[in-house]
Amino acid sequence: MKLNIALLPGDGIGPEVIQQAVKALDAIAEKYNHEFIFTYASIGAIAIKEAGSPLPDATLKICTEADAILFGAIGDPKYDNNPTAKIRPEEGLLKLRKSLGLFANIRPLSIYDALIHQSNLKAEVIKGVDFVIFRELTSGIYFGEKELSADGTEAFDVCKYTVEEIDRIAHLAFKSAQIRRKKLTLIDKSNVLETSRLWRKRIIEISKNYPTINLDFLFVDNAAMQLILNPKQFDVILTENMFGDILSDEASVISGSIGLLASASIGINSAMFEPIHGSFPQAKGKNIANPLAAVLSAAMLLDHFQLHEEAEAIRTAVEKSIELNITTPDLNSTNHFSTTNVGSFLSDFILDDENTFYNK
Ligand code: IPM
Ligand code: MN
Repeated sequence: MKLNIALLPGDGIGPEVIQQAVKALDAIAEKYNHEFIFTYASIGAIAIKEAGSPLPDATLKICTEADAILFGAIGDPKYDNNPTAKIRPEEGLLKLRKSLGLFANIRPLSIYDALIHQSNLKAEVIKGVDFVIFRELTSGIYFGEKELSADGTEAFDVCKYTVEEIDRIAHLAFKSAQIRRKKLTLIDKSNVLETSRLWRKRIIEISKNYPTINLDFLFVDNAAMQLILNPKQFDVILTENMFGDILSDEASVISGSIGLLASASIGINSAMFEPIHGSFPQAKGKNIANPLAAVLSAAMLLDHFQLHEEAEAIRTAVEKSIELNITTPDLNSTNHFSTTNVGSFLSDFILDDENTFYNK
């Protein structure tokens, strides 16, 4: 298969982890006879610096024309500590999601047996955890009207949802539940928020089309607690934009490192794949960032094009690296490996047909 892939390394550790994902994809192309054509484009703080915009027109064009996008990370402390900054790196990502209509952000989480003891949670609580978060990505409070009053003493952000925006992601989440363990949990704050009441009403309505799915509801505050108390209860989680942002970072702790979690952002005509972690500026250029989330995002990209065997080859390599402790310092404080070492192990492992060398 021939695929045009736009690469948006972005800020901080983004370029380092994307480089490892490219190594893995190159290995897959070689082994399975595919052609992956990569086109780099800039986004975020680096794009502000180079082109004066967090999402230059040229970047949007490359992304629109690509079959898929692989995104690294965004953000720079220079802006975080400056609330009055006129342009912000994050706007690049938000504008890209909105422009491409990437309404469903899919964040799967499962536990590697070899890492159970890395987690801050007890082994019996997390062993066997396997759920996926469907986070709405192009609406809600992120994209509602917002304003700071002229005298700077008042501000507002409006949270708004339409039934169309709720329905389209709900169907994807229900369909996912059908091929998983047939449970869907809607997380909202319908005891307080009107938008949440609309979500609940629609989900109850839509659930009639999916009679085999066991539907459940949780208020977001309770859900935050349940994720830590008993994460095994979850199969498919469906939630709005900001709750999904917060809960997926919380959920990442269960796996042992946020550096492990990949995501897919799906739209009508475009698909983007991105690690859920941020730009981790403290690690930039140190060759210590965990590349696995970016590499696993590349696997989700392959799955999107029905290249399941290829995606599985990446996941097997990742599992092997974890099993053999060929991991970065977030997972392995002693004898750890660098970002590039881990990436090279993965591509070598993918290309090593007999898997002889590393199985010894
Ligand atoms: C994420 C990030 C983004 C978000 C930021 C960088 C705008 O935290 O992808 O989860 O809030 O959606
Ligand atoms: Mn986030």
